[in-house]
Amino acid sequence: MGNIYLIGFMGAGKSVVGRRLSARLGRPFCDTDELVVEKAGLPIPEIFSRLGEAAFRLLEAEAVREVAGKDGLVVALGGGAPLREENWGLIRKSGVTVYLKEAPEVLFARLSGDAGRPLLSGTEGEARLRRIKVLLEAREPRYLEADLVISCRGRPPEEIAAEIEERLRGCKGLR
Ligand code: S3P
Repeated sequence: MGNIYLIGFMGAGKSVVGRRLSARLGRPFCDTDELVVEKAGLPIPEIFSRLGEAAFRLLEAEAVREVAGKDGLVVALGGGAPLREENWGLIRKSGVTVYLKEAPEVLFARLSGDAGRPLLSGTEGEARLRRIKVLLEAREPRYLEADLVISCRGRPPEEIAAEIEERLRGCKGLR
């Protein structure tokens, strides 16, 4: 059966859409960021500030190995998880990937005032929007390798979850 992996930039709605999709399909939901927080016993900004990004990425890779060893889950992946080759190999092998594609301006609006995203910390306003654009441009080639690309266009999560369900029907990820 395999897992259904939601990938995309911070603020694209992977967790909220993932929860809706898991309810629609009756599959368990799992969020790699939550697994990392549990493992570290620290919130994400503190993992970055106290242990460093490299330590965060190791914990994230451990979380990916864990979920990839399971079956039938809906998984929201942290925005950076697909970039690590080891993670991407495991993800591709263990399920279908769905990219939630959203415009930088929408991501920016959702992430404004958010202190929980260390990769954006220290930026505000125009500088934050520029940072989002630069990071997204660097990451998007990988995100676009997904089995399914969903143009989110700021739509409500339930509508996006419904579109994913419809488009996955008949694919290897849904039985
Ligand atoms: C990150 C995204 C975050 C979290 C961490 C790093 C990234 O997850 O894993 O702050 O590299 O894009 P979300 O995509 O769920 O915000």
